[in-house]
Amino acid sequence: MKKTAKNIVLCMQPVPQTIVSCRDKDGNNNALVVGFTANISLDPAMVMVGIVPTRYSHHMVKESGCFVINLPKKSFKKEYDYLGCKSGRDGDKFAALDLKWEDATYINAPILTDCPVSIECSIVDSITPGTHELFIGKVEAVHVDEEYLDDKGNILWDKIDLM
Ligand SMILES: Cc1cc2nc3c(=O)[nH]c(=O)nc-3n(C[C@H](O)[C@H](O)[C@H](O)COP(=O)(O)O)c2cc1C
Repeated sequence: MKKTAKNIVLCMQPVPQTIVSCRDKDGNNNALVVGFTANISLDPAMVMVGIVPTRYSHHMVKESGCFVINLPKKSFKKEYDYLGCKSGRDGDKFAALDLKWEDATYINAPILTDCPVSIECSIVDSITPGTHELFIGKVEAVHVDEEYLDDKGNILWDKIDLM
């Protein structure tokens, strides 16, 4: 027999485990853990990320009009935990963690090179239905560690030890 749950917060599980990286207009990099992510269109490929307006990253994403979704491996847990609880408002998280990064190809944001998959997105729309502003991003490129791609360019998801 079923009963009705009283606590309905985060009733969709499992929550994706991603790290969104971004850059402000002065060239400062930042990143935060984002669980509110989803695929939302096949053609054109589009995704969305939900960011609370009080997050330090929020104004960066809003101003730059772009972001990168990085998919971490289990071995990136220490960095993931830090990026999900410390704010860039209180210090440079890239420096604190000595994060390895490079410039994205099509957008003005950093890619976390220790993550096996990084998705470059340019924002095409946003809505704020509740606590999070949902940024809809057109996928400009998906960068994948060579060992996780087959010869046709398909991602070998089963081989990646994703968090
Ligand atoms: C598992 C997990 C999931 C999270 N999901 C989100 C999310 O979807 N949106 C969001 O705005 N913050 C989310 N956060 C919180 C931010 O990652 C956190 O507040 C971070 O410190 C913000 O960094 P910033 O102030 O430098 O942007 C999540 C944190 C954790 C640990």
